[in-house]
Formats: sequence, structure tokens, C-alpha cells
Amino acid sequence: MTKQFDVIVIGGGPGGYIAAIRAAQLGFNTACIDEWKNEKGGPAPGGTCTNVGCIPSKALLQSSEHFEQAGKHFADHGIQVSGLALDLPKMLGRKDTVVKQNNDGILYLFKKNKISFFHGRGSFVKASDAGHDIQVTGATEEIISGKHIVVATGSNARALPGTPFDEENILSNDGALRIPAVPKKLGVIGAGVIGLEMGSVWRRLGTEVTILEGLPTFLGAVDEQIAKESKKAFDRQGLKIELGVKVGEIKNAKKGVSIAYTNAKGEAQTLDVDKLIISIGRTANTIGLNTEAVGLKLDERGMVVVDDHCKTNLPNVWAIGDVVRGPMLAHKAEEEGVAVAERIAGQHTHVNFNTVPWVIYTSPEIAWVGQTEQQLKAEGRAYKSGTFPFLANGRARALGDTTGMVKMLADAVTDEILGVHIVGPVASELIAECVMAMEFKASSEDIARICHAHPSLSEATKEAALAVDKRTLNF
Ligand code: FAD
Ligand code: NAI
Repeated sequence: MTKQFDVIVIGGGPGGYIAAIRAAQLGFNTACIDEWKNEKGGPAPGGTCTNVGCIPSKALLQSSEHFEQAGKHFADHGIQVSGLALDLPKMLGRKDTVVKQNNDGILYLFKKNKISFFHGRGSFVKASDAGHDIQVTGATEEIISGKHIVVATGSNARALPGTPFDEENILSNDGALRIPAVPKKLGVIGAGVIGLEMGSVWRRLGTEVTILEGLPTFLGAVDEQIAKESKKAFDRQGLKIELGVKVGEIKNAKKGVSIAYTNAKGEAQTLDVDKLIISIGRTANTIGLNTEAVGLKLDERGMVVVDDHCKTNLPNVWAIGDVVRGPMLAHKAEEEGVAVAERIAGQHTHVNFNTVPWVIYTSPEIAWVGQTEQQLKAEGRAYKSGTFPFLANGRARALGDTTGMVKMLADAVTDEILGVHIVGPVASELIAECVMAMEFKASSEDIARICHAHPSLSEATKEAALAVDKRTLNF
């Protein structure tokens, strides 16, 4: 007999598994189907984020940062290191262990929350009286039926036309996380989030990295002042970034890759590298969902069309995360997962895209929330700006990491915080206070009046708030 569920979630990435947990917490009989396999063919829930995204990239960013610190910066602290050597297989193995811990953690959470997990591919069969029938194909093969269906099938790396990923020489994010030996030269196409993070990992491990970016501006979505400051830091580190290029023919030979391109001056150039990462954005993944069988509407880019509440064109079919509009971020997918489960339960949850934080985990880290100065200018909004450099922060000096600043933007009349932009040490953690402030519609004065621990990097946030009112205390 067909198993009946209140909620079936297709996809076990951060959007899907969190949606399933919240649905189960709310008392729904819930199933989650995910097809990701580990190297032994077993289940590996967690999606792109856990397997080839957020988690493994952060593991390698941490390990490579330790290597760089030991090789280049420990001496500043009076620590002499001799015989420093890289054990890349061990570093990659550690990353795989971290991934597995996360996979296992999710399987445990499925059990704990009494979620029925199906390892395989889920695809629509037909609408039924009870909702929708879903075919599961994989380790288990059966048709299950759900009153509500949540599509959380994520995204895949976009390839350049005519240059498929072979994961040997032409690498997506997947291959970029498991290069078996440190390449002498690495090319990256796209100076976005993946290009900068993965470029940083391999540069720190000794590779000569060149990033080719199509746009003439660096990190166009980032506040211009912060992007400029970040670029200076990357230049100092020796990360080569060429802007305004037009990539031409890419030749993939056994011993390496040759990229023909035109630089910003219009001159023909060739870049010869051992490996090439292509990180030019991602495309929604609806392959194998059999959307046609039920008429689930996709847009021209292949994304599932949803309204502000993640409702699709079909009754009781929802979609969340990378497969729908909005930032392709794990925490955005998670918030949508929670919101959809709560809406199914008749609650009224809202995901505020304006307070979704962004973080680029380079060194220095780049983090922001809300609007950039260029966006406020374009809108004609009257605003005040305050910046505070980490150079004037005691904790940053003690850490030996004084690059960057905190920049706060507030409404000129009401003083409401409109955006906060940080480049510097542990910006990923500092931004949380700013997200909360914006959610609570705080003013810059609110932050300026809050007692921050001394010495701490968070004092730079307080000082940036004071700077909005032109009254910094330590600068
Ligand atoms: P996914 O994580 O892609 O999960 C979808 C799951 O559905 C997959 O397991 C897939 O196998 C499964 N699936 C697909 N189709 C089917 C089907 N028909 N049946 C069954 N299962 C199916 N975001 C951050 O917020 N912070 C970061 O630091 C960060 N770092 C990243 C680093 C890299 C290198 C990359 C590539 C991405 C990174 N991201 C980061 C983005 C983040 O990974 C995604 O935004 C997030 O994973 C999206 O979650 P999701 O649940 O929508 O989809
Ligand atoms: P991206 O959108 O961040 O950057 C792509 C870059 O490639 C852009 O700068 C774009 O102008 C450039 N580009 C596009 N086509 C090009 C071409 N033909 N030639 C040269 N340059 C070209 O995409 P990326 O880096 O692939 O990452 C995908 C997404 O994954 C991110 O947008 C983000 O949502 C997510 N992600 C998030 C991370 C985080 O939160 N720390 C880390 C990594 C990825």
C-alpha cells in the first residue's frame, strides 16, 4: 500500500532537512528524500552545503589559514617554526571527516525527529486525491504520497558553454575541494564568492592563482568602499585578479589548461594553468523531478516559480532554497524551510531578505547586511555613514590582524540602521549583532549606547555606530 505522509520534502540540503525537522516538530508525519551518495554509495544528506559547499570549503579555509599563519605570521608573535610541511592528503582527509560528521548528524536528527528518510531520487508521478504521488528511485524504490510537497532540490555549478567539467582539470566547486596535489598554477574564472574562497585556499597552500573576472568592477554587490579595501588586501597577498576580461577558447590538454582571453585593454592574452576552476554562478536543479507530469511552473532560468510565501503554482506544493529566487545561501534556504513548515501549520512566518547576511570567508572576511552606500545613493535616500578601522581596535592589534573596518549606514532623519558592511577579522561573527539590530529596527544610537566587552572586535561595531554621529572615542 502507498505510504501516506502529511509532508514530503524532496531534497535533504539545508533547506530540505530543516523544513523536514520543523514540519516534524509541528506534529506532521514527514518524509525527506535525498539522493546524495557518499563514496561508499550510502546516504550523505546535507546537500551541496554539507558535501561540496559551505562545510568542506570552510574546513579547507581553516586548515590553509593555519598553514599560512604558521609559515608567515607566527614569527611576528615570537614563535619560530622550522620544518613546516604540508600534508595535503591529511588536510583533505580531515575535511572529509568534517563532512561525514555533518552527514551523520543529519541522519541522527531524522531519527530523533521521527522523519522517514528515503535515500534516492524523488520525482512527481501525479496529483492524487490525497495530494501528490512521488516516485522514489534508488536504494528504495516505491511510490509515496504526500498532502504537502516541499521541493528543495538545490542548485548545480554552471559550466561555460563548450567547456564541461571533467573534475580533473576543469573543476567545479566539487573538484576544487579535492585537488590531490598542490597545483603550481591555478586559473579561476569568476571572482565571486567561490572564486575568492577557493582561490584563497590554494594560494595559501603555495599555488600561483589567477582569477579572471568578466565584470569591470570587483565584487559589484558589495559596498564599494569595502570591496576596494578587500581588493587591496587580496593584491597584497598575491592573489592575482584581472577584471573586465572576456574569456575565449579554453583548451583542456592532459597536462594542463590553456585559456585565451581579452583583457580590459582589449589585448589578446593566454593563461596557461595546471587546473582551472569555473565559478560563474549556479543553476537551479530540477533535473529528474518530472515537473512536466504535474505542470509545476519553472521560469526561463529553470527555477521553480514561487510567490513571497514559497507557494508554487500547484496547490500544497512549495519550493525553497537555491531552486527558487533569492540569494543562494544555506541560511536563506533554512529560513524558507522553517517558514514553509510553519505556513503548512497555518502560522504566518515571514523571511526578510533585507536582513539575510552575506559572508565571504576569505582573509580578511567580508560580511554585510542590508543596503550598500551605492544602493542608497541610487535610491536618493538621505543617509549618514560611520566607519571605524580595525587598526584602532585593541583586540585586533593583539591578534595581529588590523586589516579592514566596520562601516555603518543609517537613515539621516530617523537614524535607523540601513546597512552594515565589514571587512576584517571574524567579520562572519561580528555581522550577527548587526543583523539582530536591523531586525529590531535599531538606530545607530542604540548600538552606540550598548556596552561591548573590552577588548573585543565588536567594539569596532560600537565605534562605527558612534562614527555615524561623528563621535568615535578611539579614533
Ligand atoms: P542543496 O544544498 O543543493 O541541496 C539539495 C539536495 O537535494 C541535494 O542533496 C541533492 O542531491 C538533492 N536532490 C536534488 N534533486 C533531487 C531529487 N529529485 N530527489 C532527491 N534528492 C534530490 N552558503 C552559505 O550560506 N554559506 C557558505 O559558506 C556557503 N559556501 C558555499 C561554498 C560552495 C563551494 C558552494 C558551491 C556553495 C556554498 N554556499 C554557501 C551555498 C549553499 O551551499 C547553498 O545555498 C545551499 O546548499 C542551498 O541549500 P538547498 O537546500 O536549497 O540545496
Ligand atoms: P557568484 O555569483 O558569487 O560569482 C560569479 C562571478 O563570475 C561573478 O563575479 C560574475 O561576474 C563572474 N562571471 C560570470 N560569467 C563569467 C564569464 N563568462 N567570464 C568571467 N567571469 C564571469 O558565483 P559563484 O562564485 O559561482 O558562487 C555561486 C553561489 O554560491 C554564490 O553566489 C553564493 O550564493 C553561493 N556561495 C556562497 C558562499 C558563502 O556564503 N560564503 C561561498 C560560496 C558560494
